[in-house]
Amino acid sequence: MRAPLSADDSMFKYHSYGLSAIPAIWLIALVVGFIVTEELPMRTDGEAIYLSRCMSCHQIDGNGIAGVFPPLNGTEWVVGDKGRLIRLMLDGMMGETEVNGVVYGGVMPPWKSFLTDEEVAAVLTYIRGAWDNDGSRVTPNEVALVRKATEGRKRPWSAEELNDSTNLGIPGSFSFLAVPPDTSANR
Ligand code: HEC
Repeated sequence: MRAPLSADDSMFKYHSYGLSAIPAIWLIALVVGFIVTEELPMRTDGEAIYLSRCMSCHQIDGNGIAGVFPPLNGTEWVVGDKGRLIRLMLDGMMGETEVNGVVYGGVMPPWKSFLTDEEVAAVLTYIRGAWDNDGSRVTPNEVALVRKATEGRKRPWSAEELNDSTNLGIPGSFSFLAVPPDTSANR
């Protein structure tokens, strides 16, 4: 079939490009579908979850209450390794935890029976980008992978356990190839 000329009517142009464009359209649809599910902002409002579930302890400005509730603003626990953050969110943490030079000994409640993968992803994405933080987003799929790998866990983590290399990164994904686990964090 000859290439369309500018003098051709639009119906002819449509038909002459139509067939050859079909594989390309499928490819674009696949790529767009992937981006939509993995990358676009979620409909779940992470800030609203923060205000109702976390703010009472960590405060509206994310700075906590020194010595009682640790800050989420500017901490390695929040913007560092995602796998470790998801674990501490799902099962909570307790024991001595140093955050920005201050030692806390409280209890961070477990959230796994109260929040869905999408909600956990939304609130973690919110705190990783709020205030002075500049961390990458967390996807529902990443939360699902960590939830599956840790489903037998029945008690909160200690800071020491969370910093063990077996608890860093997202299990069953290749994210560790792109981003080496962050081991420089607080202990
Ligand atoms: C009842 C109070 C309370 C609530 C509610 C709470 N936390 Fe915590 N959180 C704590 C305490 C206390 C610690 C420190 C635990 C320790 O000493 O080991 C902590 C630690 C953390 C840490 C790791 C340390 C840091 O400061 O970076 C993160 C991240 C965190 N919380 C996120 C959240 C998120 C997100 C929510 C809401 C879904 C939430 N917390 C709700 C009390 C709370």
